[in-house]
Amino acid sequence: MNSSLNDKSQQVSLKFVTLVSIISALGGLLFGFDTAVVSGAIGFMKERFLLNEVQVGWAVSSLIIGCIFGAAGAGVLSDRFGRKKVMIVAAILFIIGSVGSALPDTFSDYIIARIIGGLGIGITSTLCPLYNAEIAPAKYRGRLVALNQLATVTGIFLVYFINTAIAGYGDDAWDISTAWRWMFGVGIIPGVLFLILLFFVPESPRWLIKQKRAEQSLPILIRIHGEELAKKEVLDIKRSFQEESGSIRQLFSPALRLALIVGVGLAVLQQVTGINAVMYYAPEIFKATGAGTDASLSQTILVGMINFIFTILAIWLIDRVGRKALLLIGSASMAICLVVIGAAFQMGETSGTLVLIFILLYVASFAISLGPVVWVILSEIFPNRIRGKATALASMALWIADYIVSQTFPPMLASAGPAITFWIFAIMSLFTFFFTWKAVPETKGKSLEEIESLWSQSKA
Ligand code: BGC
Repeated sequence: MNSSLNDKSQQVSLKFVTLVSIISALGGLLFGFDTAVVSGAIGFMKERFLLNEVQVGWAVSSLIIGCIFGAAGAGVLSDRFGRKKVMIVAAILFIIGSVGSALPDTFSDYIIARIIGGLGIGITSTLCPLYNAEIAPAKYRGRLVALNQLATVTGIFLVYFINTAIAGYGDDAWDISTAWRWMFGVGIIPGVLFLILLFFVPESPRWLIKQKRAEQSLPILIRIHGEELAKKEVLDIKRSFQEESGSIRQLFSPALRLALIVGVGLAVLQQVTGINAVMYYAPEIFKATGAGTDASLSQTILVGMINFIFTILAIWLIDRVGRKALLLIGSASMAICLVVIGAAFQMGETSGTLVLIFILLYVASFAISLGPVVWVILSEIFPNRIRGKATALASMALWIADYIVSQTFPPMLASAGPAITFWIFAIMSLFTFFFTWKAVPETKGKSLEEIESLWSQSKA
């Protein structure tokens, strides 16, 4: 009888936590949506504003500049004002960015709007997974944080279809004058939805305790863990705050240096193994294999689909097989795929489906490993007191690496050639394998406070 009561209350709390996590994961949908939307708009904008190659690059990467600064500010701001308030600000920035990039008459107005939207994306990319981790019970944390990644890949997949539908609606002249405006403008819908729903989520209980507002955190923790466990959680969280000062200096202290190396290392490796070369330039890569425009577009849909399906698989696996195993399997398999893709280009064997198959395998390997797992690990390896600042630092490193890869990929293809470019990504994937093997601890099933004590053990 008692155990069935327990089961029931667990189900209720899991429902609550899942709902809250889905709302916050909508931030991930905006992230995917807004990074990918420009791929459909850029061709038309190029003609509308008569852009040269450098301006085309800037039209794509201006958002990422905003993201870098958004991620940088997210930690300090959310440590100070709370996770929820800063997520609300991010939603507003995102909406302003969407409206602003749909309406401009000059290219510089567009750039300003994209940077503003980017600030919102940088903030949500940092705070949404972190908030999910702070709300989730240990047993389900991986899955609930990985929901964020599922939302990101859903956003990428969705925007691709929306772009195609909008482009198919009018003739060429309409596409150049108007279609791209709708592509950006549609972002207002998920932005407003996110903003409204955010008012229904609770503040992070861990943040409340840090602000010495434990009495407000208790009802939230009771909804998550039930009466008995909630009290223990409050004590555990309080204790973890007593042991840390939470200063930036502490971030670089010997006890936390390892956590920082793992966090920043994985963030950079997630990008320099080349995923966004494929995500942002897939049609160009397929064209380089000799595919026509239509074929390259349908192959790009396949990339989005595989990314989506394997992210779902990852969510199922992450709390079962653990983070480390997924990272090891995924990075090894990415390395193999990249070697094969490079070799196919080197030997001129690109006309068949070989390159397509190995690119899909590469995306699948990323989607079960580095894609979701890096964001999960970033949200859980840092101690309570400095989680905001530390996660922000790592996510800023991730965006800078993203900027470098997306900016240098086209010139690298042109100067070094595709074979060398993909082999460089292969070497990075191999490095990721060894880095994970040596430095990344398994965090599956541990409470955030238990993970915290891992670092002091490994120091001792
Ligand atoms: C990465 C993004 C990438 C996406 C692709 C995310 O985990 O951070 O840069 O575009 O995965 O699915």
